[in-house]
Amino acid sequence: MKTALIIGPGAIGTLLAWHLQNSFSLVVPQHRSDQFLPIRLLDQEQEYPLNWHLSKPDDINPDIDLVLVTTKSSMVRTATSPFLHRFQGATWLICCNGMGPQQWLSEQQPGRVLWASTTEGALQTSSQEVLHTGRGETLIGCAQAELANSDCLQMAHWLTEQSGPLTLRWADDINTQLWRKLAINAAINPLTAHAGICNGDLLAPHWQAELSAICAEVSAVAAAQGVQLPVNLLAQVREVAERTAHNRSSMLQDMDKGRPTEIEAINGFLLDRGHEQGIATPRLRNWYDAIKKREP
Ligand code: PAF
Repeated sequence: MKTALIIGPGAIGTLLAWHLQNSFSLVVPQHRSDQFLPIRLLDQEQEYPLNWHLSKPDDINPDIDLVLVTTKSSMVRTATSPFLHRFQGATWLICCNGMGPQQWLSEQQPGRVLWASTTEGALQTSSQEVLHTGRGETLIGCAQAELANSDCLQMAHWLTEQSGPLTLRWADDINTQLWRKLAINAAINPLTAHAGICNGDLLAPHWQAELSAICAEVSAVAAAQGVQLPVNLLAQVREVAERTAHNRSSMLQDMDKGRPTEIEAINGFLLDRGHEQGIATPRLRNWYDAIKKREP
């Protein structure tokens, strides 16, 4: 059986563990002596036991096939750094919101990193339990497939071929997929987090000019990067806000819990790209500053 190390056993990490546990032996690095892993996953009122275990970082067997990174984007560097030089033959798979950590990890592990973007919904309801809140799919791809080593491509192939409870699919255009998610997040997350509102509240008339201005800035930055976003990004944002109307965005949840947000990997990334291309991004800057001021 192959072995996977999961860095970031939060809601999405747990969901992917559930999918992978039939084909991988799963291990999670232990940070604290009082740390626990969720023991069950709830999907459509059925309970599924989770088969994974914690291991002290120094005791982890170096024969790891896959390192799955599912931390918050703000934690990727800190959480992965102790392991970057440990697992020589491993393929890395990073699945987190925003952009920036993916590029950074790919620079650390050239040719070995797969990127993933998921529309699955999951919520950790207690220290023991994770709830699968919404069915989606997980796209896996290589931002620069021509530079990927053969083990990495084989692993991608293998992952997308394995049967399991989730849908994992190969995406030739994973970079575009991540940009699309980034664009939606840039419109929804800072506004909902700052105003303390649910996603659907953004459909109110008084938010439309702001959403439209943000979408215009994101579209301009993406176009300058050669990334094709939906022509009517605002309509797409409104569609997601409607579909997830009662959700509290991930940034709002982070803010409520006094955790660092993912603003750096969302607005921060777009501001940097905009700056490089000489594109004015005043609304993205405004929301970046507003969230930064309130972060712990
Ligand atoms: O980050 C989130 O919360 C989600 O990606 C989205 C789409 C904004 C819905 O809540």
